[in-house]
Amino acid sequence: MNINSLLVFGARGVQGHPVVDAAMDAGLNVRAATRDVEGAEEKLSEQVDIVEADLGDAESIAEAAEGVDALFFHLPILPEKLRAIDVVDNVIAAAVRSGVQRLVFSTGEYSGDELPAGDFVTAMREITRRLLDCPVDAVILRPTLYLANLVWPHVIREVRDQGRLTYPPFSEKRRLNWTSTEDQGRIVVACLEADVVGEILDIASPEPVTGPELCRHLSRVWGREVHYAPQSNDDFADMLSHLTGSARVARAIAGLYADIEKHDKQGPRVDTDQLEQRLGIRLTPVSEWVDERLGALIELYG
Ligand SMILES: NC(=O)c1ccc[n+]([C@@H]2O[C@H](COP(=O)([O-])OP(=O)(O)OC[C@H]3O[C@@H](n4cnc5c(N)ncnc54)[C@H](OP(=O)(O)O)[C@@H]3O)[C@@H](O)[C@H]2O)c1
Repeated sequence: MNINSLLVFGARGVQGHPVVDAAMDAGLNVRAATRDVEGAEEKLSEQVDIVEADLGDAESIAEAAEGVDALFFHLPILPEKLRAIDVVDNVIAAAVRSGVQRLVFSTGEYSGDELPAGDFVTAMREITRRLLDCPVDAVILRPTLYLANLVWPHVIREVRDQGRLTYPPFSEKRRLNWTSTEDQGRIVVACLEADVVGEILDIASPEPVTGPELCRHLSRVWGREVHYAPQSNDDFADMLSHLTGSARVARAIAGLYADIEKHDKQGPRVDTDQLEQRLGIRLTPVSEWVDERLGALIELYG
């Protein structure tokens, strides 16, 4: 198989933008699907082919996918009227119609096999089944917690002004792998050629840390002491409700975090050595991401 072009949904967003960057670095022809062509033109390189499409509209997805070899998508925060399962069916139908050879889907949140069947995990299991059963070659990525959450505006404010990290709402002994979305971008591109069709890959960045260990890394770039003071799951749900604008989404995600906390004292943990070997790529240890990526962002925006 020879994949030369990739259509990216969410290309202006936290997950999709790094996929665009990684695909460009790999020399692929990149097409970005957006509902806001002008906004995408402002944000993306001139070399990216920008097309208008909506995940709620199968016809527009098929038109956007015309002539591309592969397609990456994840579920954005959806409006109440649009069901996740319909979005996935729209993408599958469009991919079949347009002759897309490979689909890469990110679940966006962790939904490992060991977790109980809460709302989010149950929905992702059904979506995963549909994608893996569809006629197009598909790969499912299950990321852990995104390091990009460390630049949520309230997280920045609390760390900078009060020296407190309240996210994630986990016990301080829990050691887990975080995922950089830049690593996720490189993983998506590697999955276009790797022998991983039909697989579900748990993905993350190397160097699992506890909350207090992460705070020590943050102290270095923020130039101040940072203490881990995890918020309660209820406060987390409230915060998510404001952040996403959806009480339904907030309940599902906070429920997922509560299940992770209840299920085991550690994790999510991912064998990142094996991931690097299988995909032939280098992933970014958490301390390096904090020093270089977060450090650069803080220098730029304070
Ligand atoms: N694991 C974690 O730690 C974590 C943290 C935060 C979020 N998440 C997950 O990530 C997902 C949100 O992704 P994100 O953070 O990348 O979001 P984001 O930065 O808000 O971007 C959302 C993207 O989705 C696109 N989009 C939204 N509705 C669309 C539609 N109807 N049709 C086509 N494109 C649409 C938007 O594109 P246009 O506006 O250009 O059309 C935008 O680029 C959620 O599922 C959330 O659960 C996970």
